[in-house]
Amino acid sequence: MITVTVCVGSSCHVKGAREMIARFNEFLTKEGLQGKVELKGSFCMERCGEGINWEINGEIESSPCVDDGVKILRKKISEALGKNLTRRPSKKSRRRKT
Ligand code: FES
Repeated sequence: MITVTVCVGSSCHVKGAREMIARFNEFLTKEGLQGKVELKGSFCMERCGEGINWEINGEIESSPCVDDGVKILRKKISEALGKNLTRRPSKKSRRRKT
């Protein structure tokens, strides 16, 4: 089980921790990883001067924005599972221009 913990302290909350959790959850659901990844919140990780702070299996990450966090999460989980979870093009971008 991979554990992902997002800081929900006040500084990270202001920077977007709530949206980060929602986007992480959306990603895990979309990829069918709920049984393989546990998503949790935590109190202040004492790194308030950095970005939105979170951990994956105890390894600390600081993301400057939510999009960056999702990108890093995708990469880290791909590595941990040995599975390519690269971003797929949306249906809209796959449409042919006529
Ligand atoms: S509030 Fe997140 S590290 Fe302090």
